Amino acid sequence: MEKRIPLIIDCDPGVDDALALKMAFSSPKLDIRLLCSVAGNVSIRLTTANALFLTKKYGGDIPVARGSASPLSRQATDASGVHGASGIGDYVIPAHDYKLDSEDGVEAIYEALKAAGEKLTLITLGPLTNIAALLERHPDAASLLGRVYAMIASVDGTGNITEYAEFNACCDPEALAAVVASGAEIVFAPMHLGRVAKLAQQDILEKGRGTEFGEMLAQIFRGYRDDAAGEGYVAMYDANAVEALLRPEQYDFIRCTAEVNVTDKPGQTFLRPDGEGKCFYLEIKDPSALAEAMLSDLFPG
Ligand code: RIB
Ligand code: CA
Repeated sequence: MEKRIPLIIDCDPGVDDALALKMAFSSPKLDIRLLCSVAGNVSIRLTTANALFLTKKYGGDIPVARGSASPLSRQATDASGVHGASGIGDYVIPAHDYKLDSEDGVEAIYEALKAAGEKLTLITLGPLTNIAALLERHPDAASLLGRVYAMIASVDGTGNITEYAEFNACCDPEALAAVVASGAEIVFAPMHLGRVAKLAQQDILEKGRGTEFGEMLAQIFRGYRDDAAGEGYVAMYDANAVEALLRPEQYDFIRCTAEVNVTDKPGQTFLRPDGEGKCFYLEIKDPSALAEAMLSDLFPG
C-alpha cells in the first residue's frame, strides 16, 4: 500500500466542511495528525463543537484543537444564513464525552509540525487566521509546512459574500495575504468550483440511506440555504480542497500568482496564470466524473 499522506486539517464546520471532512476521514490515503477549528461560518464555540463531534464520531482518535476566535485584525463575521445558526443546519449534536485535545490550535499545529519529522500537508477549509498566526508566532513553521490545499479566494475578483470577495478570503484578508507572502505553496480551490462541483441533496441522501451519517445529513440539509448551489443542491466548495489531494487526476493544476486586496475591497482576490508563480489554482476536468467520485468518497464501501 502507498505511504499515507500525513496532514493537518483546518476548518470552520459548516455544512460543506462536514461533507469534506467525511471524505477525508473515509480515505485510507490520509494520515490526519490533527484537526483544528477556526471562526468562520459560525463562532469559534460552534465551529469547535461541530469539528470535535464530527472528527471523533467519524474520524476516530484524531486530536482536535480549538483555533482562533476572530480574524487577525477585523471583527468576526459569519455565514449562519447559509449554514444555519449552529453551522450544521438543523442537526442537534447529541450528548457525548468527547474532549478537545488542545485549547490553543495555533500551538497544536506548530507542535504537530515539529513532531512529524517530515513536512505535513495542510488542508484549509475556512479563513486562514490560524495559519497566518502560526507563521507570525513561529516563522520556522514555514519550512515545516508542505503544500497547502486551500478552499479560498476567487480567480477573477468576484465573490459570494460580497460582490467582490469569497467568504474565507473576506473573513480575514490579512491572513490570506500573509500566507501568500510567506511563500507557501498554495493549491487554491477557488470559489467558482463550488458552483461546478455541486451535488443534489437527494442524491447524497439516497446514497446515505440507512446510514447514521445519511440520517444526520438529512437534518443538516433541512437547515442549509445556499442559493449559489440552487434549490436542492449543496455547493461542494470545501470538498474540492480534499479531492484535489485524493484525486488530483480530476483537476488541472494551473500555476499562478495570487493578489489579495486588504484595503478598499477587502478579500477581493485575483489568481492569474503565471508560469513563474509559486501557487496553483484548480480547474475541474470533468464535472460529472467528479460528482460521481465525491459521492463515492462520501460513502465508500
Ligand atoms: O466560500 C465558501 C467557503 O466559505 C466554504 O469554506 C464554506 O464552508 C465557507 O466557509
Ligand atoms: Ca468552510
